[in-house]
Amino acid sequence: MGTFNQKRVIITGASSGIGAALAKQLAGSGATVFLVARRKNRLEAMARAHRGPIGAMHAVEGDVCAKPASMNSIERLALEVNRLYGPAHLVVANAGFGVTGSLDSLTLADFRRQFETNVFGVLRTAMAFLPQLKETRGTLVLVSSVAGHVAPPGVSPYTMSKFAVRALAESIRAELAPHGVKVVLVSPGFIDTEIHQVDNQGAIHEAAIDGAPRWLMADAATAARAIARGIRWGRAEVVVTWHGKAIVLLTRLAPWFIRLLSRFMASTPSPSTPTAPSQKARPVPRKSARKKTPRDRAPSRRRG
Ligand SMILES: NC(=O)c1ccc[n+]([C@@H]2O[C@H](COP(=O)([O-])OP(=O)(O)OC[C@H]3O[C@@H](n4cnc5c(N)ncnc54)[C@H](OP(=O)(O)O)[C@@H]3O)[C@@H](O)[C@H]2O)c1
Repeated sequence: MGTFNQKRVIITGASSGIGAALAKQLAGSGATVFLVARRKNRLEAMARAHRGPIGAMHAVEGDVCAKPASMNSIERLALEVNRLYGPAHLVVANAGFGVTGSLDSLTLADFRRQFETNVFGVLRTAMAFLPQLKETRGTLVLVSSVAGHVAPPGVSPYTMSKFAVRALAESIRAELAPHGVKVVLVSPGFIDTEIHQVDNQGAIHEAAIDGAPRWLMADAATAARAIARGIRWGRAEVVVTWHGKAIVLLTRLAPWFIRLLSRFMASTPSPSTPTAPSQKARPVPRKSARKKTPRDRAPSRRRG
C-alpha cells in the first residue's frame, strides 16, 4: 500500500492506545478511518477533534465479541461500510486486552474469555472483511505482540492468544497472496497505553499504575508511525520498540537464554508487575464485564 490517501480503513480497538494513535496517523495521511470500539463516546470525541485538511474519521460502536446478528457486530459493520462507502482497503484487527496470572490461579473460563477477544475477535474481523479486501487487493493487519514470540511466566492466556494471532498471520499470508491481499503482522513491545488498566474480566481501573519499566516503553504515536511505515512498505512483520526487536532476535538465536530468563522471572517478583488495580479505584463497567471476584483484584503481570 503506497499511500493512505483516500483509502477506507477499519481499525478495531480505536478508542485508546495503539488503535487510537494509528487512526490519527492514517487520517492525517488522508485516509477515511472507521473507528471501532465499544466506548462510542470516545470515538465520537476523536472524530470531532479530527481537523486535518484531508482524511476523515467515523465513529462506529462495535464489539468484536458480539454475535453476527447483533447491531454492534463486526459482520454487520462490514456490510454497512461496504454498502454506504464501498469496500475497505485496509483492516487493522487491533482490539485486545490481557488476562494474566499463574496457571493455578486461573480457570478455563479465563482462557476462553481471553481467546474470545484476542483470537476469535481478530478472526471475526478478518473473515468479515476478507471479501472486501479481495476486491480492493488491500491489506489485513493483525496485531499480536512480542508476547507472540516469547512466553514469559505469569501471562499464559495472553501469550497463548498472541502466539495464535501470529500463527494465523503466517498461515494466511501465503493463502491470500494470490488474491492480492497482503497480511502484516504487528508485534509491539511495551507501549504506553491503557492496557494495564483493564483487568482479567475486561473491567477498567482508571487509577491503575503501569508497572512496566518506563525506560523500555515507547509512546503510542511512535508505535503508530512505525506501524504505518511497515504497512506502506508492505512488510510481513513490524516489531515495535528496540527491546522488542532484541527479544524476537534472541528467541531465534539463543532460545536457551530466553528459557533462563523465564526461570529467573518466575522465581523473582517481576519488575514489570504492575501495581494491582487499586482497590479504591472504581472499575468503569463495560458491557461485557461481569461481577468481580476477589481473584480478579490480585496483582497481575503486565500485558504487552
Ligand atoms: N500496550 C502494549 O504494551 C502492547 C504490547 C503488545 C501488544 N499490544 C496489543 O495492542 C493492541 C491494542 O492494545 P493497547 O495497548 O492499545 O491497549 P488499550 O489502550 O487498552 O486499547 C485496547 C482497545 O481495544 C478495544 N477493545 C477491547 N475489547 C474490545 C472488544 N470486545 N470489541 C471492540 N474493541 C475492544 C478497547 O476499546 P473499548 O474498551 O472502547 O471497546 C480499546 O480501544 C492489543 O491487541 C494489545 O494486546 C499492546
